[in-house]
Amino acid sequence: MSKIVIAGGTGFLGGLLESALLKAGHEVVILTRQPRASNHLYWNPSTTQVDLQAILDAEVVVNLCGSGIAEKRWTASRKKELYTSRIETTQFLCDIFDQSKTLRQYISASGINCYPISSSRVYTENDPYGEDFVSQLVQKWEGASDPLQSVCSVYHMRISMVLHPTFGALKKMSTPIKLGLGSVLGSGQQPMTWIHHEDLVQSFLHIIANRPASGSYNLTGEVVTNQTFTHQLAKVLKRPILLPKVPGFVLKLVLGSMSQLLLTGIKADPNKLIETGFSYRFPTLEEALNNLYESK
Ligand SMILES: NC(=O)c1ccc[n+]([C@@H]2O[C@H](COP(=O)([O-])OP(=O)(O)OC[C@H]3O[C@@H](n4cnc5c(N)ncnc54)[C@H](OP(=O)(O)O)[C@@H]3O)[C@@H](O)[C@H]2O)c1
Repeated sequence: MSKIVIAGGTGFLGGLLESALLKAGHEVVILTRQPRASNHLYWNPSTTQVDLQAILDAEVVVNLCGSGIAEKRWTASRKKELYTSRIETTQFLCDIFDQSKTLRQYISASGINCYPISSSRVYTENDPYGEDFVSQLVQKWEGASDPLQSVCSVYHMRISMVLHPTFGALKKMSTPIKLGLGSVLGSGQQPMTWIHHEDLVQSFLHIIANRPASGSYNLTGEVVTNQTFTHQLAKVLKRPILLPKVPGFVLKLVLGSMSQLLLTGIKADPNKLIETGFSYRFPTLEEALNNLYESK
């Protein structure tokens, strides 16, 4: 059993991870700006407030902080918030733990959309970052934890779209399909990376239990096109896709530069984590969607 601190553990992924860690017998403390439970501890990275004594003996720190990339249009102030909520929080964690004698692992959420936009190349963790907004955000986010490299093992989990039937992107995608209003986006040929929520949680548990080498790890099941994803989801939901493709310019008008998330994508290779002994329970989209919808 380890003492594990989760910064930003009150959200979608934090809730799933907390349950799994408690089930595995770990002690979990959640850092949040709005404590609501007995294991929640108030902190505020903007004002550098935290009760140090309650967390300084942590053995593992998981960082899941960050306001939602796809939640609001990317105005200048929103872009600043996307940066601050990731980089300021990471820097504060570095300040808190830079002298730690107990910390053995720092595991941070990161994004798989950190590579140059391409629908043909399959990226590994050795490839460079891209130049677009999200890639640059991820580069600075990952780089912000560099000071901890001399303290403990540092992991950046390059997470793809996490599939859960009632939270996150899949809920947003399934609603129009259930209403008979589903359609393929743009050309439909843009790649989509995704991971079943159970595999996501198990990948964090795997890192904690097996302590592989520090570094970045791509987290994705088989990569499919937007067209394949949309039709596979419609099939599992037993609904037809009747509407024509939504043209890219319409999405650009409605969403501005954030339409990049829907109209472009990358292919990433998940083998680095698999080679450390991790195995995906749901490696194919068909297996993942069948599990998420048909067995419930
Ligand atoms: N969900 C996905 O499909 C997905 C995919 C790729 C990457 N990720 C990344 O994984 C992380 C967790 O995702 P999620 O879906 O669980 O997000 P979420 O539900 O929106 O939760 C985000 C957490 O970040 C904290 N937070 C937000 N802004 C903050 C700020 N300015 N200062 C301090 N804390 C702040 C919140 O904590 P309090 O409000 O309680 O303080 C909350 O617990 C995020 O960084 C996200 O970018 C998620």
